[in-house]
Amino acid sequence: MTTKTGTQTPSDQDVREGMVRQLIELGAARDPRVVAAFRAVPRHLATPGIDLATAYGAEFAAVTKTDATGVDISSVSAPRIQAMQIEQARIEPGMAVLEIGSGGPNAAYLAEMAGATGRVVSVDIDPEVTARARRFLAETGYDRTVTVVTADAEDGLPGHAPYDRIVVTVQAADIPPAWVRQLTPGGRLVVPLRMRGMTRTVAFVRDGESDRLVSDGFELCGFVPMQGAGENRVRLAVLHDVAGEEIALRLDGHPEPDTSALARALATARSAVWSGVMLGGSESTEHLDLWLATALDNLPLMAAKPGARTRGLVASASPIGIPTLVDGGSFAYRTTRATDVEDRYELGAIGHGPRGRELAERLAAEIRTWDGDHRGDRARIEVHPAGTPDGLLSAGRRIERRHTRITITWP
Ligand SMILES: C[S@@+](CC[C@H](N)C(=O)[O-])C[C@H]1O[C@@H](n2cnc3c(N)ncnc32)[C@H](O)[C@@H]1O
Repeated sequence: MTTKTGTQTPSDQDVREGMVRQLIELGAARDPRVVAAFRAVPRHLATPGIDLATAYGAEFAAVTKTDATGVDISSVSAPRIQAMQIEQARIEPGMAVLEIGSGGPNAAYLAEMAGATGRVVSVDIDPEVTARARRFLAETGYDRTVTVVTADAEDGLPGHAPYDRIVVTVQAADIPPAWVRQLTPGGRLVVPLRMRGMTRTVAFVRDGESDRLVSDGFELCGFVPMQGAGENRVRLAVLHDVAGEEIALRLDGHPEPDTSALARALATARSAVWSGVMLGGSESTEHLDLWLATALDNLPLMAAKPGARTRGLVASASPIGIPTLVDGGSFAYRTTRATDVEDRYELGAIGHGPRGRELAERLAAEIRTWDGDHRGDRARIEVHPAGTPDGLLSAGRRIERRHTRITITWP
């Protein structure tokens, strides 16, 4: 299209190509069939009012609903996250796929993957979301393959089961038994699972006809929280409550902290302990953090607004949170410092409170253990039904949920 000034504006196909190139560069889309799916779906039609360049940004998630407390509860997920989960799902033509959490575009990608002989069912708890998804799928012709249902997915969707693949697009703290039972033996469940506050989209394989799931890889991600019967949000222990500088611990099955003692400790001098372990600038701490959560008992994540860092209240801040070891009125969190070598950082810990230094030393020791024994390793995550005897669980970190016992083990 040519504008009045004579400049060419890119067509949606051109902009989509740009997104596809980005997804390939980021390593999010690798399978040529996944690439073709992202090339085919006109996802911008799901986000009217948002300009093409924004709608096709690889990292752009369009938030469509926020709850009364300001928490985002519905969105069209970012293309990078969608591609990553679809890669994890390994969908073959002819498969039956259940999507938990609707929006439209992701169901269309799943339909591309399942092909004309496959079927996709998409379920969402929110009738406004399902209405919007149905409109998008009808407009784009994917309603021939995708059935949209309004329901709480806690019970799966028995009327359309079994499924070869279940792709969950909402953060889950637990795995309801129905999801496992509605999966074909050997089927794959891809789910953003929150473990001790840390969310990873895990590709699980159902172990035959059993109720056991075994991980086959996972990726770092962020998703809106589950609503309905499976709702289980993190609780916040607020350590500093000045607008723009808020600092809080996110509790997820952790012991109740002495919040006022920790808030007082935050206001005292810090002790820094350095581990000697180096990290490249683009290297992720996602596996280190999971190691720390495996090795240390009371390690919630500390979330801090950027203003807290600017003011020097904390040395590190991250929207997904920083692992923080808590003991009584003292705590220590993981951090990094620049080194003389460009783009290399040293990992360490900052402690506060009467035992802050000791906790920072424990954290630094576990960073060294990870570096020496587990760097390059990937944790194995297993999900067993609640009530499974201890003797049948792998040794390692155990996370107890209402429906399941989750284990995290390292080679
Ligand atoms: C990130 S959005 C889904 C995005 C979508 N898959 C897309 O095309 O990008 C997550 C959705 O999960 C839904 N959800 C939350 N709890 C649910 C539940 N218990 N059962 C079904 N859907 C749920 C929310 O209403 C929300 O629309």
